[in-house]
Amino acid sequence: MDAITRSAELELEIQANPGRFRVLTGDRPTGPLHLGHLFGTLQNRVRMQDLGVDLFVIVADYQVLTDRDVADRLAETVEGLVLDYLAVGIDPERATVFTHSAVPALNQLLLPFLSLVTVPELQRNPTVKDEIAHSRQASVSGLMFTYPVHQAADILFCKGNLVPAGLDQLPHVEITRLVARRFTERYGPVFPEPDALLSAAPVLLGTDGTKMSKGRNNAITLGASDDETARLLKGARTDAERHITYDPANRPEVSSLVLLAALCQDRDPVDVAAEIGNGGAAALKRTVTEAVNEFLAPMRARRAAYAADLTYVRKIIQVGNERANAIADQTLAEVRQAMGTVY
Ligand code: TRP
Repeated sequence: MDAITRSAELELEIQANPGRFRVLTGDRPTGPLHLGHLFGTLQNRVRMQDLGVDLFVIVADYQVLTDRDVADRLAETVEGLVLDYLAVGIDPERATVFTHSAVPALNQLLLPFLSLVTVPELQRNPTVKDEIAHSRQASVSGLMFTYPVHQAADILFCKGNLVPAGLDQLPHVEITRLVARRFTERYGPVFPEPDALLSAAPVLLGTDGTKMSKGRNNAITLGASDDETARLLKGARTDAERHITYDPANRPEVSSLVLLAALCQDRDPVDVAAEIGNGGAAALKRTVTEAVNEFLAPMRARRAAYAADLTYVRKIIQVGNERANAIADQTLAEVRQAMGTVY
């Protein structure tokens, strides 16, 4: 069965029986989250949390070091990420937000897991290959090759059985399944074989017409002010044709702006485009700016309220890390038992 068919099946199962699932998902703390994240993954996390799925959100701070020597202002970025989570509705009463560097037993799983995969299997990973191709580093670190196995530890330490993923994360879920399967074959059952849950994320382009991305200065972040949002959208790329249409294949930049307004207003992009019609790029940008700022207003207000006193944010990370540590210690004890390394 292909991943898309399987995901449709899983969706039904989640609706019917949310308590059966533990979702593990998360982000590298490399910068603030933006509208691409919101419509691509964040809304889906909140939806699952609200359905009653047990949600774990990992802040993958070690993973930042895959393609750079040092992570600048990491604590600030991590706190910003947690602010974004709170702003969109991730509820720390129901979800566990944690940083993997603070969970030693999770990291220790990396060693037995590494023994379960071969070097060619690591070298074949298409996402890693792509990241190496785009890396700014002169040479590739060992962490770059092994981080998918570390990611398997992120998922398996809490026996996560569902990983919402875009296409780029599928190879990592595959390695996780391989690790779980081989561990079971070699030592006995400790881990589930998690499923990837593919979601149909809308493709939002950045204001320069390329993929919206943390590193490219082309993204509208959740925490940006109304004015910053207006300025970014004012400079957005469009095309020479005055009449506004929704035609993603032939007019990617204009259509992405139309889609953004439509997503914010929960409308059909074709209707949004028709309404603007001959108003041209200027009217389109006005519409999008208003739609985005109105849609994000309650999230931005929540974010600002939490940002005013970071004590609460830090507390959430501490509590999440404590919870993750308790689970990781338990899992590592089971792993040592299974491997016969209890002395
Ligand atoms: N690799 C993910 C990203 O770059 C972040 C991540 C780390 C993750 N560990 C994970 C995602 C475990 C899902 C499950 O966005």
